[in-house]
Amino acid sequence: MSPETDFFILVLVIGLISSVRSDEFSVLLNLKSALAESNTKLFDSWRSDIPVCKFTGITCDDTGSMVKEIEISNQNLSGSIPFDSICQLQSLQKLSLGFNYLHGSVTDDLNKCSRLTYLDLGNNLFSGVMPQISSLNGLLYLYLNNSGLSGTFPWGSLESMRGLVVLSVGDNPFDETPFPKQLLKLTNLTWLYMANCSIGGQIPAGIGELKELINLEISSNYITGEIPTEISKLLKLWQLELYANNLTGKLPVGLRNLTNLHFFDASTNHLQGDLSELKFLTQLKSLQLFENELTGEIPPEIGDFKQLVNLSLYRNQLTGRLPQQLGSWSDFNFIDVSENFLTGQIPPNMCKNNKMTELLILENNFTGAIPASYADCKTLSRFRVSNNMLSGVVPGGIWGLPTAEIIDIANNNLEGSITSEIENAKRLGQIYAAHNRLSGELPPQISKAASLNTIDLSHNQFSGKVPETIGELKRLDSLHLDNNNFMGQIPNSLGSCDSLSDINMAYNAFSGRIPPALGWLPTLNSLNLSSNQLTGEIPGTLSSVRLSLLDLSHNKLGGAVPESLSIEAYNGSFAGNPGLCSQKVKYFPRCSTSGDSGVIRTLITCLSIGSAVGLFFLAYLRYMKKTSGKEEETWNVKSFHVLSFMEDEIIESVKEENLIGKGGSGQVYRVSLKNGMELAVKHMRNTESGWRRKRNNILVGKEFEAEVETLSSIRHVNVVKLYCSLTSQDQGSRLLVYEYLANGSLWERLHDPIKKKLGGLDWITRYEIALGAAKGLEYLHHGCERPVIHRDVKSSNILLDEHLKPRIADFGLAKIGHTADTSSSSSCTHVVAGTHGYIAPEYGYTYKVNEKSDVYSFGVVLMELVTGKKPIEVEYGENKDIVYWVCSKLKNKESVLSLVDSSMGEAYKEESIKVLKIAIMCTSRLPTLRPSMREVVKMLEEAEPCKLLGIINVSKEKQNHVLLV
Ligand SMILES: *[C@@H]1O[C@H](CO)[C@@H](O)[C@H](O)[C@H]1NC(C)=O
Ligand SMILES: *[C@@H]1O[C@H](CO)[C@@H](O)[C@H](O)[C@H]1NC(C)=O
Ligand SMILES: *[C@@H]1O[C@H](CO)[C@@H](O)[C@H](O)[C@H]1NC(C)=O
Ligand SMILES: *[C@@H]1O[C@H](CO)[C@@H](O)[C@H](O)[C@H]1NC(C)=O
Repeated sequence: MSPETDFFILVLVIGLISSVRSDEFSVLLNLKSALAESNTKLFDSWRSDIPVCKFTGITCDDTGSMVKEIEISNQNLSGSIPFDSICQLQSLQKLSLGFNYLHGSVTDDLNKCSRLTYLDLGNNLFSGVMPQISSLNGLLYLYLNNSGLSGTFPWGSLESMRGLVVLSVGDNPFDETPFPKQLLKLTNLTWLYMANCSIGGQIPAGIGELKELINLEISSNYITGEIPTEISKLLKLWQLELYANNLTGKLPVGLRNLTNLHFFDASTNHLQGDLSELKFLTQLKSLQLFENELTGEIPPEIGDFKQLVNLSLYRNQLTGRLPQQLGSWSDFNFIDVSENFLTGQIPPNMCKNNKMTELLILENNFTGAIPASYADCKTLSRFRVSNNMLSGVVPGGIWGLPTAEIIDIANNNLEGSITSEIENAKRLGQIYAAHNRLSGELPPQISKAASLNTIDLSHNQFSGKVPETIGELKRLDSLHLDNNNFMGQIPNSLGSCDSLSDINMAYNAFSGRIPPALGWLPTLNSLNLSSNQLTGEIPGTLSSVRLSLLDLSHNKLGGAVPESLSIEAYNGSFAGNPGLCSQKVKYFPRCSTSGDSGVIRTLITCLSIGSAVGLFFLAYLRYMKKTSGKEEETWNVKSFHVLSFMEDEIIESVKEENLIGKGGSGQVYRVSLKNGMELAVKHMRNTESGWRRKRNNILVGKEFEAEVETLSSIRHVNVVKLYCSLTSQDQGSRLLVYEYLANGSLWERLHDPIKKKLGGLDWITRYEIALGAAKGLEYLHHGCERPVIHRDVKSSNILLDEHLKPRIADFGLAKIGHTADTSSSSSCTHVVAGTHGYIAPEYGYTYKVNEKSDVYSFGVVLMELVTGKKPIEVEYGENKDIVYWVCSKLKNKESVLSLVDSSMGEAYKEESIKVLKIAIMCTSRLPTLRPSMREVVKMLEEAEPCKLLGIINVSKEKQNHVLLV
């Protein structure tokens, strides 16, 4: 060969190489510029002076020039992917883009990447529908979980991917579909994640063909029918997740053959039968079958499972004993077998390895003593054994567990006393110990348990004095010491427990004077000091407090009943104090001082809750201006809170000039009584003749009264007090009498241009409102005898008092006949609860409406607080609401921050995103994925804004975390 030819060939080769190089290079450069908005260092090496194959995240094939793999997951990338350009990479086999903030659509062009074996688009913010991808028939790994994609999923495309090993499509709001049969041909599948993506129908028997499966997750779908017995052919299964579906029948025969199973969860279904199939699953680490209808005994073999760390079987109908060696092998962590019919003793060694965090066995029939071993269980955060038949002495160390948050031993036959070790219980929030045989004195060290908010020691045999140090418990909200043998003075220091709202010290032997400082407690709501030996006068300070319960009866009090308490309504509150006198109330002897205050009016006597006298009805004829047709109505009065007012004053005040609000269900009036008290009165009528038709769900007569009675027994600082109801005798209309709140509703403060001028709400205030309202709802859901579902949570139902403290209003009214605002125009024949923009999606389906529907609506309120926007605004687009709008902005950090109400300034922007994150969880499409209000409160508490913000910069890492919702 001539040197010229050599040179020519050399040039040709170099030219070829560099032209290939430049093709690959330009594709990657194009990708880099498409992701230019990302905040990442990834692309620092993507430069012309560096070979393509040396770019960070790029791997080339054996020729050393063609891109084979793009692995750029979890790199904080945002932008939209140019699939047509990427698929020009002829050798591309792996495209890994997961855990970023990628948005935009996934286009058909993806099909050009026909050599792909690995595709990960999961955990991103894509939108639109997933295209058909039947050309990608060489795929082995396909991750599309939590991608943001929706609509109809191309299940048909999967049929051609015969080699597929991993398929992950869960956590996407796809259209509902029966179990996709196409999957059953993918016999090499080892990993199937198909949770929470709207799968319905039954699990097909063909599932048994997927013999390579190690992981099968199809939880949180709408799956019905029985678990097919063919599932027992999946001998390699390591994890089986079926929870939150609608499965029925028994655990299938043959399940026992799945001896490699480590994780099994079929909770929250309707499974029946016993657990006998489980006894051979010796490798189980976690067994969760709570909220089913399972019966029979827990197989004793479970006690020998050496790996088991987590056992959750609560809310079933299980009987028999827990195996005594349960949890003594491994790092046992968690047991919840509450609400069954279990008997026998508590297994003593579950905390042997000092890893146990929760011991929950409430509402069973356990007997015997609390094993002493738990007094050394330093990791325990929840210890709840209430409502059993436990006896013996409570091991002293239990009180001093350093990480315990709740100790609940109520309703047993336990003995012993609260020990001074309680000073170590720095995290202890709640002690529930009522109805036992505990005795001894309260140790002064209790004041060192500074997290305490609830102490319930009622119905025990405690004695001695209540230590003065109790005043150091600044978070104490509820103190129940009633029905014990306490004596001595009620400590003055109680007046410095600023959070106290509920004090019950009845039925003890307390003596001395009532500390006047109790009257200064800012949130005191209920005070029961009855049946003690208290002497002296009723402190004047108490007369300024508005209490929903005041009971000082059966003491040795003397002197004059303070003027403002001198009304017959309080008779019961002061009974059994022969030394008391009054100028006003005939019931007491007259005080010798002068100053006749004149006429005693004819009053309505409102009865205190629990009064055995029963309910009190009065009929009045009244001319009602506002009722149509000017007919005369006869009114029944029913009231529940200790309070007195003149009912004719109320009825007279229901007139135009006092009108402060109008809704579909009726009008709200502000009533100022002559005694200075202000009330809000809701006049409820159906805008049509619905009341009288009575064919609706609307409760009538006794039912209505029972419901109102329940609602008015609710007492919480964050819930508006319902004082009483007045019903016209023909049931034609009703007045509900509430406390009046000066600052109107949250809706007005956020959205009403006139009220906004009173001053915008800063983030700290909004946060406090969010937290308070959440606590109110939490109380309604979890604090009452049975859950009270609000059914119409919205910002206009969150009222603000003079300190802008929130209170939930109008709770539970949907049920008793309050149709919501939007329904006033409709002609529907059933009660539609809720307000457009706040209504959870399940109202549209066949689901039962439950607490989680309130959680959704509360999530919308949180979004209003963060963004300052209304639930429905034109800018969201037609038929779109705030939830859609917020989700559409979760593209990147700037976009998320732009959601925050700009009128709050910059300082707390990032802080408020924490609350937005909670809002997004609350508005999850599936009710089961929404947190409970209890969890919401907890999360909100963790999102407390740092009051010094502006100086402190939230770390980068934290910001990213915040965006990962
Ligand atoms: C399934 O996996 C086996 C073993 O790796 C392999 O030989 C076979 O070709 C795979 N099946 C398909 C349809 O790809
Ligand atoms: C669950 O199944 C029960 C009984 O088959 C049925 O009544 C109920 O409507 C189902 N619920 C859902 C959400 O599918
Ligand atoms: C369980 O495995 C045993 C032994 O391999 C087999 O005989 C039995 O049929 C299997 N049971 C079921 C229900 O598949
Ligand atoms: C506990 O046992 C008693 C008497 O044996 C029985 O009446 C009660 O129903 C049982 N309670 C529970 C929760 O099993």
